[in-house]
Amino acid sequence: MNHSSRRIFLRNTTLAGSALIAPNFLSCQQKTTPVLETYKPQILSTWNHGMPANNEAWKTLQQTGNIVDAVEQGVRVTESDPDNLSVGLQGLPDRDGIVTLDASIMKGDGSCGSVSFVRQIKHPITLARRVMENTPHVMLSGEGARRFAIAEGFALETEQLSPKAEAAYQKWLENAQYKPVVNVENHDTIGMIGIDAEGRLAGACTTSGLAYKMHGRVGDSPIIGAGLYVDDEVGAATATGLGETIIKICGSFLIVELMRQGRSPQEACEETVRRLVAKSKATIKDVQAGFLAINKDGAFGAYAVQPGFNFAQHHPAKQALVDSQSYFPQHG
Ligand code: GLY
Repeated sequence: MNHSSRRIFLRNTTLAGSALIAPNFLSCQQKTTPVLETYKPQILSTWNHGMPANNEAWKTLQQTGNIVDAVEQGVRVTESDPDNLSVGLQGLPDRDGIVTLDASIMKGDGSCGSVSFVRQIKHPITLARRVMENTPHVMLSGEGARRFAIAEGFALETEQLSPKAEAAYQKWLENAQYKPVVNVENHDTIGMIGIDAEGRLAGACTTSGLAYKMHGRVGDSPIIGAGLYVDDEVGAATATGLGETIIKICGSFLIVELMRQGRSPQEACEETVRRLVAKSKATIKDVQAGFLAINKDGAFGAYAVQPGFNFAQHHPAKQALVDSQSYFPQHG
């Protein structure tokens, strides 16, 4: 399947239009700026771990033509990556040494499902999809999510930290200072949003959450509207970074609503980061949060609080890791 489309819209930014302005002056003032590149189909994912995830999502989309299958299968790659310390059961534990996972999935028709504070489940994104498809609920948490997983035939994995996570946890225990860490190894959470050739949207978001968090802490990733929001009428957005700051501004929902009001995905991401910064003033220097957005035409945007955020982009003309712009400039 190769239903690709690439369009560059040119916006004439002249203030004129008035016959009172002399032709020579008019031509000096005219500036033609490419503002929106649109691609369908397209997959966007947070961080460098989004590259292999996007490949899998792309392959799945080609095979099944189903954008929900694509985002689910895509993020499962990250959930299975033994070296990943911020997604899946190999992620860093909470301060009690226990790995708890959060995940959500959403379709452009408004269907959604999520799980939070789950243990022993290798693929929380698939469990979130089962919540969406096999229950009348949106969110299951903790022990209830575990029981549902068993009823759905999921295997429970042994609770044992991965060697990398164990080593990091032992080092953390030396001081055991309660200062949860975000942006570990320059990544945190995989949020993936995708659009198919016909403009159907879906998204998936999955994480082991903030390293050394309090037991029971839940971040933005499983909260519909915070870590993920998708609406076929408008677009989709997903988030990464310090969940508390993202929850407080309903970050992904805010981006979609700003796009509904006419902002481009890039403008919507930037406005949302400005809102987050304004609401987190006291602690902002220690905060990283980043957003990705796509609209129903396939235009995209990304923006973060701090430098260092990147995202993986996959469409017919490009598969690349792209550096995001940020609110604060590079330090030093
Ligand atoms: N963004 C992931 C978390 O805060 O848990």
